[in-house]
Amino acid sequence: MNLTLKIWRQKSPKDQGKMVDYPVSDISEHMSFLEMMDVLNETLIAKGEEPVAFDHDCREGICGMCSMYINGEAHGPDRGVTTCQLHMRKFKDGDTIYIEPFRAKAFPVIKDLSVDRSSFDRIQQAGGYISVNTSGNTQDANAIPIPKDDADLAMDAATCIGCGACVATCKNSSAMLFVGAKVSQYALLPQGQVEASQRVQNMVKQMDDEGFGNCTNTGACEVECPKGISLTNIARLNREFLSAKASSKN
Ligand code: SF4
Ligand code: FES
Repeated sequence: MNLTLKIWRQKSPKDQGKMVDYPVSDISEHMSFLEMMDVLNETLIAKGEEPVAFDHDCREGICGMCSMYINGEAHGPDRGVTTCQLHMRKFKDGDTIYIEPFRAKAFPVIKDLSVDRSSFDRIQQAGGYISVNTSGNTQDANAIPIPKDDADLAMDAATCIGCGACVATCKNSSAMLFVGAKVSQYALLPQGQVEASQRVQNMVKQMDDEGFGNCTNTGACEVECPKGISLTNIARLNREFLSAKASSKN
């Protein structure tokens, strides 16, 4: 395939940035999108030009690093996959492809397609954990019976890879699908109950402090989420938050 790429180039966080056209040729339909970007970068390096900066790590849909907005969609036109799992067979010979960074106030651009998502790390640090007694009297987690439905829902929530597609695709730049998943994975399990009230209040406060917007039930996040995280996690986040607020007033 021969393609025209229109890519966001931005030298630094303060640079204004602009779209730049790049032709690429002899692209195999079996390549992943990131392999196609590698081909472009090898060509640029051979010409002595600056390669396009983009984030990636596992290249198998696990780490959540490969944040690209492709033809107006987070992670591109396929469903239930990250950019590294997107294949060039989704495009046609002669196509023009627009490639931009994930855009949100809380995800400032570092360079080209690479954005700073440390705001997600700070939300996790505010409550996305459980404290475990390691004094030698630790209870075996397998000794606590958990209903199968709850275990399944907690596992589904835990599959969130923190990629940020939900934020990038939301018109409000809301992080509530991400925070909803992180709160739900503990709210559904007995091990998460001890710190439940503080967890949800601290994570929501950090989410607001970072500048993420609020959910208005548009549902775009659920459509673009590569892990199929359900909107019901946002409903659970709201319930957890309201009951934590109510009990902290008593
Ligand atoms: S909820 Fe989905 S889109 Fe949002 S960070 Fe988690 S995996 Fe990514
Ligand atoms: S590079 Fe890890 S999810 Fe894409």
